[in-house]
Amino acid sequence: MSRPVDALIDFLRGEEARGVTHVHLDDEAKEILRELHRRARGKPGPAPRPEEPVAAAVVSEAPPEPAPVVAAPAVVAPAAGGAAEKIAALAAQAETWAPARKLGTLRETMVFSTGDPEADLMLVGEAPGYQEERQREPFVGPAGQKLNEILKAMGLAREKAYISNIVKFRPGMPGQTTNNRKPTAEEMAACLSFVRAEVEIVKPRCIVALGGTAAEGLLGLTGSVSAMRGSWHEFAGIPVRVTYHPAYLLHSNSGNQDKRRVWEDMLEVMEKLGLPVSDKQRSYFKAKP
Ligand code: URA
Repeated sequence: MSRPVDALIDFLRGEEARGVTHVHLDDEAKEILRELHRRARGKPGPAPRPEEPVAAAVVSEAPPEPAPVVAAPAVVAPAAGGAAEKIAALAAQAETWAPARKLGTLRETMVFSTGDPEADLMLVGEAPGYQEERQREPFVGPAGQKLNEILKAMGLAREKAYISNIVKFRPGMPGQTTNNRKPTAEEMAACLSFVRAEVEIVKPRCIVALGGTAAEGLLGLTGSVSAMRGSWHEFAGIPVRVTYHPAYLLHSNSGNQDKRRVWEDMLEVMEKLGLPVSDKQRSYFKAKP
């Protein structure tokens, strides 16, 4: 007998075959999945709502309890040279970084960062994808185009920001073509000290964590991005704002709602950076009278 989860797997495989790399999950869907996971671990969560399609078959498919993530040794930030030289020296270390390589789950090509190593604004994503690996530069695919649009709306050229990822290699998958996956907690832990060293060198005035995975890697937060945004966090003494990943905006079917939320986050960031905010910028996405 076919189980509900088989239909879901067939659907996702079909999407993957069509070249779709991300699926949109709204907060409600995420909460249903979290509840399934909690039940599989034997932890009671809030009572299910009657309309939730909670199938016992799905529960048995839940992943096993994750092993504790062991902190990787820290990379040493180079002491000599200007910011650009120091970043280049870090990138050279990342090429053969043993804690990442020995996991055996990350692909070979190292993708480090792009932009101004002395920028006031640092943006951190999760990991390179297919396009980023090909071009060896973060955020050059469709999500990168969306990120460029956001920066432009803020009055910033992409080259004026420093753009990086928690994980410096594209997460691997069996039979992988153009499809990407999120990095695991282990993969993020293996690369996190590079981000720490980058922050030490760049000394940004503000960091934006792009999406829940980046926020998890950077800040140790789990849960929905909607719960993480709207306030300032801190990483290595630098204020951090969490917002939705640009790829999420590409697939969001919330109309302008999620775009408006990202823009609200960026207005906060602009204020933190002391960037001028025009009336026109302030009223993007405001409801027309
Ligand atoms: N998504 C990310 O998180 N990082 C990239 O570099 C590209 C897509």
